[in-house]
Order: sequence, then structure tokens, then C-alpha cells
Amino acid sequence: MSEYWYKEAVIYCLDIETFADSNGDGIGDLRGLIGRLDYLARLGVTCLWLNPIHPTPGRDDGYDITDFYNVDPRLGDLGDFAELLHQASNRGIRVMIDLVVNHTSDEHPWFQSARSSPDSPYRDWYIWSESEPPDRFQGMVFPGEQRETWSYDRTAKAWYYHRFYDFQPDLNFANPRVREEAKKIMAFWLQLGVAGFRMDAVPFIIELTQPGKEPCPMDFEFLTELRQHAQWRRGDAILLAEANVEPDKLPVYFADAGGSNNRIHMLFDFMLNGRLMLALARQNPESIIDALRDTPELPRSAQWATFLRNHDEIDLSRLTAEQREDVFEAFGPDENMRLYDRGIRRRLAPMLGGDRRRLELAYSLQFTLRGTPVLRYGEEIGMGDDLALPGRNSIRTPMQWSPSTGGGFSDAKEPIRPVISGGEYGYEKVNVTAQRHDKDSLLGWFERMIRTLRESPEVGAGTCVHVDRKLPPGVLAHRADGTTGTMLFLHNLGADDVQVDLGDLYGEANDPNEVFGDSDYEPVGRLDALDLAGYGYRWIRLSRSPGT
Ligand code: NOJ
Repeated sequence: MSEYWYKEAVIYCLDIETFADSNGDGIGDLRGLIGRLDYLARLGVTCLWLNPIHPTPGRDDGYDITDFYNVDPRLGDLGDFAELLHQASNRGIRVMIDLVVNHTSDEHPWFQSARSSPDSPYRDWYIWSESEPPDRFQGMVFPGEQRETWSYDRTAKAWYYHRFYDFQPDLNFANPRVREEAKKIMAFWLQLGVAGFRMDAVPFIIELTQPGKEPCPMDFEFLTELRQHAQWRRGDAILLAEANVEPDKLPVYFADAGGSNNRIHMLFDFMLNGRLMLALARQNPESIIDALRDTPELPRSAQWATFLRNHDEIDLSRLTAEQREDVFEAFGPDENMRLYDRGIRRRLAPMLGGDRRRLELAYSLQFTLRGTPVLRYGEEIGMGDDLALPGRNSIRTPMQWSPSTGGGFSDAKEPIRPVISGGEYGYEKVNVTAQRHDKDSLLGWFERMIRTLRESPEVGAGTCVHVDRKLPPGVLAHRADGTTGTMLFLHNLGADDVQVDLGDLYGEANDPNEVFGDSDYEPVGRLDALDLAGYGYRWIRLSRSPGT
């Protein structure tokens, strides 16, 4: 039995507005999601992460909030949200929400008040400068879409700071009242029953910005405070943070100098994400091996969250220029597939040319490497992208449920975003209903894969170590050891069939057997002549601890 539920979780990330529309207005809603919980339960996911659900003008897909204590009326109301929590819990599914407190929408009443007068009680909730800051054109997160990080507000007659778009003014976390408010927001949703938060933009929340002062001091203590507060309110609540920083800067997000995990529980593994993409592009596992070697040791209750795709571009900025070029060439050859000079705005299936073997390989790798897997909606059926849509919207198209008009997402003539239609990835071909009727479908594969993973709790809850042997090029062997036993994994990133000798592990094995793989291989025998097809993968249970 594991002490930490999140180490054995399978997290499914979705945006309610593009998932399922129950009332025909073209916008996905809470009732629609409730109607699809059985689908998610069958898929085997144990936790949902909902992209922002709060009232919003929708200029950054909900990451611009006007009321932290409510649900956007287009999605439903708080009653529907409570019902979602209840129905999900009945199916053993927890629900996490996005906590986006680095900034608000500029339409938020706090900002409206703040800008209206220097005497406003909210003036100090934001970050102002009386004169034009010298670093006005530095630190933009969205180059090409964002011109500056300090903008002049005519009403306020002052400059305000915004790490992201100009309609997202940063909150001032040097102000104790803002810190208290963030805790209050957290407590509110915990009281309703959420399991925790995906915390947006954490490095920017804790930076104590002052005009012209880079780098600014970082207030890591605030993370300790937040963690404490969350856990006083709900003991098993978790914080899952987005902190896309250099690996050597990560330990302080998990722990203070004492080294125990008293800050963030889980961090997205951006480093592994980039290296996974590189390994897939080069058909060579070297970069994954580097990632496993280079990452800092984690305190006991801390955990990585591992992902291939999310709702943003794939960020390749931590790769070298040469590595990035290789990934671009393989997966984003056209300018239109790229974004912000650093990323790719595509879904995985089209990136891999729709090659089912490589898709399985990629997801088998993601789910068996260290950490808790996070799966983005639609990936389980191999959805495509719509490069005609601007920016990141290319990968934010509605879920494809069926071959009926609108892809079963909505009856409305004009859904919030067009459903992908026609061609290899259109809803007519790629949809849940069709894959339900086909036992060999990608969806069926995901269901079996996730079920097998959940029978292998040493993945996630245990260690993840590269098995360093002389193996054919292209092959990665890694193992997961935990209190429940040991799993061994082989992945062939190359196209050629090979044979792998891991006979020296046989001494530790206890009736080893294969639990999952890309095809029916010969029984594993003494582990000294393991066949592995091009792009093949094998999950081998080496041993099971008695009594677990
Ligand atoms: C990170 C989110 O993932 C992204 O979608 C958003 O635009 C920014 N934070 C700003 O909130």
C-alpha cells in the first residue's frame, strides 16, 4: 500500500469548454463532463486536472480570471461543480483545478478598482511603477504575441507589470493581503472537495518584482506557507506546480534547506518532456538516459508529473540549438507548426505521422518512466491538430466522441472552436464510438495499458533507474523497484528488430513474466535472448513481493 495517492495516480487533463456540451450552446460544460465520467472511469484515470473553470473574458483560454470564487456561467454553476465532485468521487476519481493566482484578468474588479485611484484599497494588490521601467521590453513569455512586460495604464497614470499578456496584470505577492487571499481561494475550493491544484506560473508568483530589478528576489517561503495551509485544510491535498526552470533550480521548489518535502508535492517534468521528444526524434534513448542521470534526487513524498502533451506548445527551450533543430525537423518541419521560437503546437499523433507503433512506444515510455503520468484529453484516441487556428488553439479543438455531425461534442452549428473534420484526423474517422467498436483501437490499447500500469504500482511509487548494459542502439532498458516488487521495461526507439540480453538480471527474478507489450513475444525465459521489434516495447514483471 502506498502512502501517497498521487504517486499511483493517472491524471487526465481536460478543458471543460471543449470536452462535452450538454445544452447545445456550442460550449462544453460541467453537465457534459459529468455525462462522460463513466468513459473516464473505464479508461482507468484516477484524477482529473481541469483547466481554469472560473469566470473569464477568455482572452487566454481561461487563464485570465475575473472571479476566483465562482464557475464561469458558460460551464454551469457551483451546484454543477459540487455534483461533478460527488459523481467523480463515486467512481474513485479525484478532481484538481487550476490555481491561477500569479495574475488576474484586467477586467477583474480588483484591477478595475486598483487602476481607478492611488487610494484604492486594491492599488497595492498589483505592481506599479510611476516611471517607465528600464526593463519594459524584457522577460516576455509569449514572444511575437507579447510586446512588453510593463504597460502604461492611462486610467492609473502609471505602469503596471504583467509577466504574460498585457490583459493579465500580475498580483503583488509582496503584499500580505494578496498572500492571504490566495490561501483563501485555495481553502474555498478545498472545502468544496477538490483534491488539489495545478498551480500556474509558480516561479512568477514567488518573484518579488520591482521595476528595473532583474533578477528579482524569490520568496520560496510563500510556497511553504501555501503547502501548510492546504494541508491544514485537507490532509491529502496536493500542489502540482508548473515551474519550467533549469533542473538545478528545482529542489527549492520541493523543499527548504532542511530537505524535507514541505513545499510543492509535484512538479511537471519539463526537462524530461523535451528529452523525450528529442529521443523520439533521433530514435535514440541517449537523451532520456541523460535526463534520468541529471535530475536531482527528490525527497520521499515529492514526485514528478510526466507528460508528452499538454494544452500549451511543446517547449524545447531547454534543449541545445542543435537538439532543438533535430526535433523541429522531425516533428515541426513547417514554420506554421512552431510557436514562440521555442515550441511545437501540434498533437502527438500527427507529429508521429499517425504511426500507431510509434504512438504506443511514446506513451508506453511516458507512462513507465518516473513520476505520475498526465494525459491530455483526446490523446487516447489519437486526435490531430488544426493548424489553421491561431497559436495554441491548434491543439485545443473539441473532443471527438462520435462520427455524427459536430463529432458528438455539440449539436450547435458553431461550436466554440471548429471540430476537426475531414482527412486522417477528422471526427468522421477519429472518434470514441468508432474506437469502442474496434478492440484493436488506440483507445482499447490505452485502457489495457493504464489497467496494467495500475497493477504495477512500483512505477510512480518506486524508483526509476536506467539499466546500464550494452544494448542495441535505439534500446532503452529501465526498471522500477518498489515495495510491491520490480518491473523491467524495454523500449526500442529504432525501426529495426533486435535481440536484447539481460540474462544477468535473471538472478533477481522470481518467475518473471511479460505483462504488456507491443506483440506476443516468446516467453521471457532466462532474460538472455529477448526479442524486441522495431518500435517495440515489453513490460516484464521481474518479481512481486509476497503479501503485496
Ligand atoms: C501557463 C499556462 O499553461 C498557459 O496556458 C497560460 O497562458 C499561462 N500560464 C498564463 O497563465
